[in-house]
Amino acid sequence: MNKSIVILISGRGSNMQALLEAKLPCRVAAVISNKADAEGLNIAKAHGIPTAVVSHRDHPDRASFDTALAGIIDDFQPNFVILAGFMRILTADFVNRYKGRLINIHPSLLPSYGGLDTHERALKDGVKIHGCTVHFVTPDLDHGPIIIQAAVPVHCHDTPETLAKRVLREEHRIYLQAIRWLCKNQVELNDDGRVTLRHRKQIGFALISPSLE
Ligand code: GRF
Repeated sequence: MNKSIVILISGRGSNMQALLEAKLPCRVAAVISNKADAEGLNIAKAHGIPTAVVSHRDHPDRASFDTALAGIIDDFQPNFVILAGFMRILTADFVNRYKGRLINIHPSLLPSYGGLDTHERALKDGVKIHGCTVHFVTPDLDHGPIIIQAAVPVHCHDTPETLAKRVLREEHRIYLQAIRWLCKNQVELNDDGRVTLRHRKQIGFALISPSLE
């Protein structure tokens, strides 16, 4: 267990919780929130993880907030910084400081549906397959190199809530997997901005939705 991570949250923290409840091959050094009332902070405390709050409201602009946040993160000297429902757009300076070490989970099959309200937008477009993505963070919002994705079917009577629930279940599985790979040095970030994985079997079947008769 020589690697460590810091997890950044803003709210409920179910992805963080899934990580804390799993057997990770790394130490969770701290959980940091930009909101003092984030429910996830209590979950982290219950797991005995050090927590901190850096409120964006205490800072006049993004740059000064990001500098304060980086200061706290660096106190813990993590190998990776894990964004788990952290709802702040980070400056290019911050992102570049953690190049190759800053990871995010996004509730869509990127590069489709970057940004907010992904489930509503997917339903409006009538897509039949939706999902989630774990990726390295770059200054290009929601466009960093992809590590792993999970696809789920969209059902005809789905609401944003039912679809979100199906996607969230997979988020919890793939984030854990991505962090395991990262901590075991199994993820390679290539110069062309694409990710390859060492010793990975490729699946040989398709997810077809709705299913064939
Ligand atoms: C997740 O859907 C995640 O993909 C997105 O924000 C949500 C956070 O949920 N970035 P939680 O706080 O982990 O429960």
